[in-house]
Amino acid sequence: MTALRNDRFLRALLRQPVDMTPVWMMRQAGRYLPEYRATRQRAGSFMTLCTTPELACEVTLQPIDRYPLDAAILFSDILVVPHAMGLGLTVNEGVGPHFERPARTPSDIRAIGIPDPEIDLRYVIDSVRLIRRELNGRVPLIGFAGSPWTMATYAIEGRGTKDFHVVKTMMYREPRILHELLEKLARAVVLYLNAQIAAGAQAVMVFDTWGGALSTPAYEEFSLRYMRQIVEGVGKESEGRRVPCILFTKGGGQWLDLIAGTGCDAAGLDWTTEIGAARQRVGGRIALQGNMDPAVLLATPERIREEVAAILRSFGPHAGHVFNLGHGITPDVDPENAGVFIEAVHRLSAGA
Ligand code: CP3
Repeated sequence: MTALRNDRFLRALLRQPVDMTPVWMMRQAGRYLPEYRATRQRAGSFMTLCTTPELACEVTLQPIDRYPLDAAILFSDILVVPHAMGLGLTVNEGVGPHFERPARTPSDIRAIGIPDPEIDLRYVIDSVRLIRRELNGRVPLIGFAGSPWTMATYAIEGRGTKDFHVVKTMMYREPRILHELLEKLARAVVLYLNAQIAAGAQAVMVFDTWGGALSTPAYEEFSLRYMRQIVEGVGKESEGRRVPCILFTKGGGQWLDLIAGTGCDAAGLDWTTEIGAARQRVGGRIALQGNMDPAVLLATPERIREEVAAILRSFGPHAGHVFNLGHGITPDVDPENAGVFIEAVHRLSAGA
């Protein structure tokens, strides 16, 4: 494979010195970009984008061609794993993800098999190989999966939810059944991330978007425990380099010590926790990725630069910061403002 020309993202995740703070954006390939909307239109559906490696590769590279980002993230979705388990995913414009056959009863869950990534998720693994080839060493490629808990919320509810009542009913009434599903999802994710790494992913990230909906004991039992299994099961090295593992629990700022205790290399941080305080707590053990409120990108360029400066100042002149948003960039952001943000991170951190 071609040598990596920009490795500051991988270095920062391992808390090694860098010339400037690396930056990428969650959901950087997405609807705020006109070129994404055009490809999505041509594909006809979101799932066609995900399952056609040429299209997935094209949209992965769109933000990389437009901005000086320090990492690319595979274009896919966390819900392709439960889809490969037979639940029947559709993603409709303005409606969000929907499963035709949610897994709700003990027999639904017992019937679920563990997907073989090289067969059942072949389109993702082929996309990783193609993206690596097309990136040609420009920046590292991030592979990803959903956390078992977050995937289970969709698999059980059948769609997005605000109160999590179906999944929480199962959690408090029949925890053993929920554990059976989480166990299967965790085993599936280990195989899936290892297949992504074998195909060329250079770092991996686990998205636990809904861990923050849990109490602390429930978080430890139903979310963190399975993310720990993933950290332990995922390959640590590929192509002669460490493959860093990032865990992101949205709303998980109060659990950073627990997260650092899993053995992950970095934690993603949303904007509700001050990054300087977070660094003081766990910065000696793991790197931090985050954490600007994505809504700041709706402000003026001056305000965006101020906010970037404040976060850099809060983190301080230490190793181990990957700049990111605290959650995904939203469709209403002006692409010019995303450019202002990325440029500000580099310029304001250089020579710091
Ligand atoms: O970051 C990237 O650019 C990589 C691609 C990516 C997508 N989804 C593309 C996508 C990643 C990493 C995800 C992860 C994902 N998917 C998460 C975890 C991260 C997060 O944002 O919290 C979750 C919870 C999902 C489930 C999911 N998929 C939802 C809730 C939606 C609807 C969101 C919306 O804004 O409508 C999706 C669909 C989806 N996944 C879109 C994209 C670009 C929008 C679909 C479209 O183009 O119409």
